[in-house]
Amino acid sequence: TVMNQLLGMHQVEKEISQYFGIKRCIVVAGNSDNQEKVLYEFGDILTDSLDLILPEGENIIAVMGGTTMAMTAEHMGSLETEKRHNLFVPARGGIGEAMTVQANSVSAVMASKTGGHHRALYVPEQLSLETYNSLLQEPSIQEVLSLIEQSNCVVHSIGRALHMAARRKMSDEEMVMLKQNNAVAESFGYFFDEEGEVVYKIPRIGLQLKDVQKIPNVVAIAGGKTKAKAIRAYMKNAPKQTWLITDEAAANEILKGA
Ligand code: G3H
Repeated sequence: TVMNQLLGMHQVEKEISQYFGIKRCIVVAGNSDNQEKVLYEFGDILTDSLDLILPEGENIIAVMGGTTMAMTAEHMGSLETEKRHNLFVPARGGIGEAMTVQANSVSAVMASKTGGHHRALYVPEQLSLETYNSLLQEPSIQEVLSLIEQSNCVVHSIGRALHMAARRKMSDEEMVMLKQNNAVAESFGYFFDEEGEVVYKIPRIGLQLKDVQKIPNVVAIAGGKTKAKAIRAYMKNAPKQTWLITDEAAANEILKGA
């Protein structure tokens, strides 16, 4: 019955949040590997979750990119109230994604769907380190960086290490290095092995992993059976305040290997 299914799902949510030692886990029925509707539901659930956890006043929400984040953003609803205003900013700049799934685009869509505002971080992809460092001195960039530093919420996804490295056209040397270090997960431009230890980091401005630890509201969104291993690896050392929004296919696979 539907009731039994719901109870079973709640049990899985509890087991996962206990297994990772995180604040909360929400599991959507289905498998986002091949069901788009699961991603739409992530949008509803993210909206409801933020509605619950965001305090009144001015919130700054730092968001990452990726296809999950982009699809989730499209299906969000209003979060603005008379007492609560939200500003969306990209969490980190320029980690090599296609335009539509860049953090800048995701934060713009989230702002428009939720009735909030957004600020972009204009740092082109693929810059030399020299140009990159001098760009950092620009006042307009400094201003957005300072907003990012003040964020009280972060929303991000989790990807498979080698898949993400290939999609972002990382070099052959980097690919070899990731393989040698058994990288299985990627988030925030950091790569993790199965134990959740960082094995590589793309040096970019914006939030660093250690900053995320101190942000009071953290939401991770990732689903699909193919991502189970990556989710498990990243979540092992995820900040304890994290809410994980995932799907049934990933959740069952995670618990199988637990
Ligand atoms: O950092 C993780 C990636 O952004 C996930 O990308 O949602 O396209 O799998 P994806």
